[in-house]
This record gives sequence, C-alpha cells and structure tokens, in this order.
Amino acid sequence: MNQLKISHLTVTYSNGFHAVNDLSLEIGNGMFGLLGPNGAGKSSLMKTLAGLQKCSSGTMMMNGTDISENPDYMKQNLGFLPQDFGVYPKVSAQDLLHHIALLKGISNTSERHEQVDSLLEKVNLTGFRKKEVRTFSGGMRQRFGIAQALLGNPRIVIVDEPTAGLDPGERNRFNTLLNAISKDVIIILSTHLVEDVRNLCSEMAVMDRGRILTAGEPEQLIAGLDGKIWAKSLVQQEPETAGYQVISRQLINRKLYLTVFSEDQPEGFHAVTPQLEHVYFKTLSQNI
Ligand SMILES: Nc1ncnc2c1ncn2[C@@H]1O[C@H](COP(=O)(O)OP(=O)(O)OP(=O)(O)O)[C@@H](O)[C@H]1O
Ligand SMILES: [Mg+2]
Repeated sequence: MNQLKISHLTVTYSNGFHAVNDLSLEIGNGMFGLLGPNGAGKSSLMKTLAGLQKCSSGTMMMNGTDISENPDYMKQNLGFLPQDFGVYPKVSAQDLLHHIALLKGISNTSERHEQVDSLLEKVNLTGFRKKEVRTFSGGMRQRFGIAQALLGNPRIVIVDEPTAGLDPGERNRFNTLLNAISKDVIIILSTHLVEDVRNLCSEMAVMDRGRILTAGEPEQLIAGLDGKIWAKSLVQQEPETAGYQVISRQLINRKLYLTVFSEDQPEGFHAVTPQLEHVYFKTLSQNI
C-alpha cells in the first residue's frame, strides 16, 4: 500500500499569488479524482507533487519520505502526464520512450527494451512505434503520454486532464487503461468530466482557489444530498430565487432548469436524484 500525505501545502508564484493555499490531503492506492474549475490550482498542485516547482511551505510525504527534501525518491517512483506536454522532438515514439526510460534510470538494455515494447503494446501503439509522436493524433499522443508515465513501474501516477479533447472512443480506451493499473498504485487524475470521476475514482476532492473544499468517496458525497436536491423548469429568467441555495441553472433538452439545495421541498420544485455534478456545484456555490 502506498500513501501520499500532503500537509498544509502552500505554493506561491513570484507575483505573490497563492495557487495552492494551506492544502492538506491523504491519498492511498486507487484512483483519486481532483475536480475544480479553471484556475482552481489543480495543475499547480500536481506540478509541485511532481517536483517541477517548489512549494513555499508545508510538507509532502510519499510512503514516509519527505519529497521536498528527497526529490530523488519521487523521481524514481513517479509517472507524470502533464496537462501541456509541450513540443515533441523529431524522433519516433519508440526512440522517445527509450530516451525517457534512460532519463528515468532504466539503464539495463534488455529491461528497457522489454518495458518499451510491452508499454507500446499496452497502449496500442506498436504499429505506430516508428512514427514521430508529433505526427500523432490527440488520442494517440495521450496514449503515448501514459506509456511514458508508466515507464519504470511507478508507485504514483499523476495525470492532468488526460482526456481533454479526446473523442468518446479514445476517452473510453484511455480510462480503461488507467483503471487497469490503478489497483496497486496511486493515480491522481484531474479532470473537468464529473462523470469520469464518478465512474473511475474510489476517492475524490473538489478544489477551488487553492483549497480542498470537500473530499471523500463519490458515492458517500452523493448520498449526503439524498432528498435535498430540487429542480424546476424556468419559463423565463425568473428573478424569484431569493431564499434558495441555487446550485445551477442548466439547459436540459433545450429547457432551462433551476436546481437548488434545500432540506425541504420548495414550492413548485420537483425532487431530483442527486448526481455527482450536484455535489460539485453545491460545493462550489458554498465557496462564493
Ligand atoms: N507561473 C504562474 N505565475 C503566476 N500565476 C500562475 C502561474 N501559473 C498558474 N498561475 C495561476 O494560478 C492559478 C491556478 O492555476 P492552475 O493552472 O494550477 O489551475 P488549474 O486548476 O489547473 O486550472 P485548469 O482547469 O484551467 O487547468 C490560476 O489563477 C493561474 O492564473
Ligand atoms: Mg490545469
């Protein structure tokens, strides 16, 4: 069992902005979903965990080792797929994997070949191994990205919005791949797809403005809203929302619906079965 323990972590950029603000979190094996709006601090947190930038205070312990003091431990045990991979050099997928494997310290040639070949197979890129990664489609690139993240059998895999821009088929394949490796390692997944967190993650958190607003098992967080979510269709832009905790105004089948949180049934509203999306919107609406 692996354990990542983040305590009172603060990440401050040079302009003085706290992108991560006194954040504490404990994560074990399995898939952990990180939800949060644009600018919440997800990538800042992930890049700091990956050792690409320093924190200004707090601690990050991986299996009992302080990873700020001992960055090599994290380097040896981490697979990271950043939100923006940047530019790829003019080399084939296979050669690039070998190069990254060497950087990760897999110096034994036969071991390296074995890993590269088996990962190319795993992500369905064996037939494209001689092609340059920069000529790949978005989905192929992300599959290559997960292959490079898995080199060296990491104990912790961090993937930052890995399925953004993928078609539904590619997204399913990518998610299935992540799920298959998630049993024995920590996977931290950031995404804007609430549905993916619901389907893939055993634990999750909602983050905004550098802080964790709520964390737990998706099922439990949803169960906490049982009998408390109500909706009605809005004929026009009705202003009469005072007194309700509004969760969302959303188009469903081209009709505008107002969804609110309330212990009792508000007049004119019908009951709605809570979904993870309600947890997300309710959590954020409390943080205004
Ligand atoms: N290098 C930087 N210097 C100053 N501010 C930064 C820097 N990088 C990010 N920020 C700010 O930190 C905040 C968090 O950004 P971050 O990229 O971590 O958010 P995010 O949750 O990953 O968002 P998204 O969902 O859009 O990817 C934002 O307000 C952003 O503008
Ligand atoms: Mg981001």
